[in-house]
Amino acid sequence: MLKDAQGLDVSTVSELAIAAIDIYIEQCLCYGNQAESSILAAVNAEPHCILANTYAAAYYLSQENVADAQEAVSYLHRARNYFTHANEREKLHFLATEAWANKRIDRAIAYCEEIVARYPQDLLAVQQGQYHYFYQGDKSGLTCIAGTVLNANAGNHYLMGMLAFGLEQSDRLAEAERLARFALEINRADPWAQHAVAHVMETQGRYREGIAWMESFADTWGNCNSMLYTHNWWHVALFYLADGEISKVLSIYDIHVWGKADKTSAKDQVGAISLLMRLELVGIDVGDRWQDLSFYLRDRVHEHALPFQDLHYVYALARADYLHLVTEMLVSMTKYSQKVPTCLQKTWQDVALPAARGVIAHSIYDWRKTVKELKPIIHRLSEIGGSNAQRKLFEQIYEDANQKLAIQITSRSHLDYPHAIAS
Ligand SMILES: [Fe+2]
Repeated sequence: MLKDAQGLDVSTVSELAIAAIDIYIEQCLCYGNQAESSILAAVNAEPHCILANTYAAAYYLSQENVADAQEAVSYLHRARNYFTHANEREKLHFLATEAWANKRIDRAIAYCEEIVARYPQDLLAVQQGQYHYFYQGDKSGLTCIAGTVLNANAGNHYLMGMLAFGLEQSDRLAEAERLARFALEINRADPWAQHAVAHVMETQGRYREGIAWMESFADTWGNCNSMLYTHNWWHVALFYLADGEISKVLSIYDIHVWGKADKTSAKDQVGAISLLMRLELVGIDVGDRWQDLSFYLRDRVHEHALPFQDLHYVYALARADYLHLVTEMLVSMTKYSQKVPTCLQKTWQDVALPAARGVIAHSIYDWRKTVKELKPIIHRLSEIGGSNAQRKLFEQIYEDANQKLAIQITSRSHLDYPHAIAS
């Protein structure tokens, strides 16, 4: 039995494995681009280590696609062989990850909470718990799981960044900004803390300040994973968009958001789709970018990893005129919503499906159907997860359709007027 850098026991005698696990934890917390290589190094150094295999499974699950989910299951099968001799924390991590693989997100959260309660210095459990709360749209969970271990991790900037993000999502903006800025005094290069302040500035409409803030840290993003690299640039692009600097937005899209994306990564794809949608909503012609992007979405039709992702995919496929895939995906989403575990069923059936029909309608300029589908669920969109800033897009789509429908009705009533007189 050895201890990791957090002082927690790990069932291994391999110094190489524990060193690689420590790198993996650090890489997860700093959103680094060496997370996969480090956890695979840990598994290679100690193939019988339940925690290394479990962490590898969690890494692949977080990629939110079918191929990586299968990879995760193979690591979970290996981890299961060593369950009996694992310590309590390792068993809880395994159970949390197994529940995640089985889409039992309610159980996964309960296990993460259990780990955090018993081992408050386990920041990967805090991060994983936050991840699940985020995609459940549970703002208080996001804040609570980080807030309860603040004293046990005094001075840890990663935890401050995690808590700051939860506070921002809960509209506790001043507290969020103060805490994130404090984290950055400890480590200027903490990209999640930088990102938490960007969210505060976005919410408060401090666009010019947001540009200056994020660009002042861009030099620290070179070693970020593609998700946070592209996402932080996505935030910069949103600031420029709000400020009307469209050429800058297109250039950031081409150079960073899509240009540096892992084009097969679900989260990178979602950011790019979201930016193109926002550009079109302000009347910008995005050229052939939908076709370029949607080429990489053709295998996503039956995945259904997250409803938040599906809503983006289906819109992009529609805008790229893959209408047969849109139909196929909607049928597939409907079938999936009937077999998904109970804890996710209401979200899929009551929110995701009408939202999907609504965004598809918007993509083909059917304003009436867009409004009809989105109106009843617009106040429940938080259930599909994502951040406030990310979900705002769907509210904008709804408002856009409402405005265009009103114009359509007004212009038609003018046209109808002579007939009304005649009759
Ligand atoms: Fe964000």
